[in-house]
Amino acid sequence: MADKKTYYISTPIYYPSDKLHIGHSYTTVAADCMARYKRLKGYDVMFLTGTDEHGLKIEKKADAKGVTPKKYVDDIVAGIKDLWSIMDISYDKFIRTTDDYHVKAVQKIFKELYDKGEIYKSYYEGYYCTPCESFWTKTQLKDGCRCPDCGAETQLAKEDCYFFRLSKYSKILIDYFNEHPDFISPASRKNEMIVNFLEKGLEDLCVSRSTFKWGIPVTFDEGHVVYVWVDALSNYITALGYGSDDTSLYDKFWPCDLHLVGKEIVRFHTIIWPAILMALGLPLPKRVYGHGWLLLNGDKMSKSKGNVVDPVVLVNKYSSDAIRYYLLREVPFGSDGSFTPESLLNRINADLANDLGNLVSRTVSMQIKYFGGVCPAPAERKAEPLDDEIIGLFSELKTNVETQMDALQFPLALTELWKCISRLNKYIDETAPWALAKNEEDKPRLAQVLYVLCEGIRIAGALLGPFMPRTPERIFEQLGIAGNDGLTNWESAGTWGLYPEGTVCKKGDPLFPRLDVQKELEDLERIKLEAAK
Ligand code: ME8
Ligand code: MG
Repeated sequence: MADKKTYYISTPIYYPSDKLHIGHSYTTVAADCMARYKRLKGYDVMFLTGTDEHGLKIEKKADAKGVTPKKYVDDIVAGIKDLWSIMDISYDKFIRTTDDYHVKAVQKIFKELYDKGEIYKSYYEGYYCTPCESFWTKTQLKDGCRCPDCGAETQLAKEDCYFFRLSKYSKILIDYFNEHPDFISPASRKNEMIVNFLEKGLEDLCVSRSTFKWGIPVTFDEGHVVYVWVDALSNYITALGYGSDDTSLYDKFWPCDLHLVGKEIVRFHTIIWPAILMALGLPLPKRVYGHGWLLLNGDKMSKSKGNVVDPVVLVNKYSSDAIRYYLLREVPFGSDGSFTPESLLNRINADLANDLGNLVSRTVSMQIKYFGGVCPAPAERKAEPLDDEIIGLFSELKTNVETQMDALQFPLALTELWKCISRLNKYIDETAPWALAKNEEDKPRLAQVLYVLCEGIRIAGALLGPFMPRTPERIFEQLGIAGNDGLTNWESAGTWGLYPEGTVCKKGDPLFPRLDVQKELEDLERIKLEAAK
């Protein structure tokens, strides 16, 4: 058998300086959705996430708590893994930059760059932002002293350090971007990189530090540790065994199909990372996508600002599938958008409890009430223009969802699904099965209407998996087809009419209970106040 096509997708590796917030869940859920989609389409997938554990900020945090940096990050990483578990994040590998194999590989990479003359020793003077682990020049600062990214006060720092010859890549990268129009998405971010950085000319990049200890030691110069971004970015290849004895995963999956990142680190992923890879003589990732920010009260949600929403609270209260749905649906992918408790509760009630949940429970109830739950034989069905319209919509649904997924438009993929789900609800009102049920001669039509409903729900269920991994199974239970792969897998959503005669529906719990918005808002407010104490 021919080897399966491969697909490699990564999230950023997050700083375990604090618990993660719903902004981190946003990227990770989107990557998970894509990974699941590709697996369902038959790809051999590598989905990588992890943690970026070195740097001054973590060293200071650990100090303040009176524990070693390693102990500090161990605790937070355990919480992060729990979070990904309750959110059904199906990563294939979780890399920690304190993992031994990563440390060794980064040391090798650093030495190789040095031996090739891509790294040289000098000294640095600049303004350092600790929360962002970034150096800035005087002219880049906001209000004369603040980090242009996060607004924190920077410190003037001078120290011996190694530099990477980034300056020689300005022109090379502009050409690369122009020759590979899909390398950076959305397209607006490509122009930002060219105008704000490349055309101004890049400066060589400080890649080692000697004023703190919590980093990967430079093997040939004691007292220097590798500066965080070289350490961090390398994770995308060290996770595959690059620089170790076993490079089989690297050979199989590199170059990466997609680095999914927030827009504030597009610069690192499309300028510094490609330059490092070019210097090493390695192929570049196929694509970097910089999505927008989740905002809270108009501001970027961020650990350094502390204006965060805890995903654990939300998942425990409303279920992982509901939170995943909200994150994937609410904000146009690529743009910034606000998190509000009101919009979350509204999505759950309107889209999940009403549109989807009611559709399933009404359909199953009627099938049980009118046919004892058993799907009648197809011989009794005849052509109807209204049904043809619905069948037409559902026959195109899989292709429409795939088109949006391939463009990373998760919200639009869900919009396609919900167009069809809403159409089925309207179809119930139009056909009024309860009226048909009153006359024996309308029984064949009633059977046909219920068939259209069950089959439409089956198709929608088969396409919901990447977004909401738990919900399809619950729908299929009620339709009586759980575990029947040929009726529930991705491919099966492309064919109308597979729901078999004689299948028995079962009543189940509501998929998403309706929430009392006022009560939930008060609850969330109280939880927030308690957390702040
Ligand atoms: O930058 N909205 O780690 P980090 C949307 N360690 N996404 C958000 C977000 C928000 N408000 N806040 C965070 C780092 N994110 C480095 C990365 S990669 C080699 C090293 C998500 O903990 C988004 O993906 O600050 C963003 O890029 C990432 O978390 C930053 O996480
Ligand atoms: Mg950050």
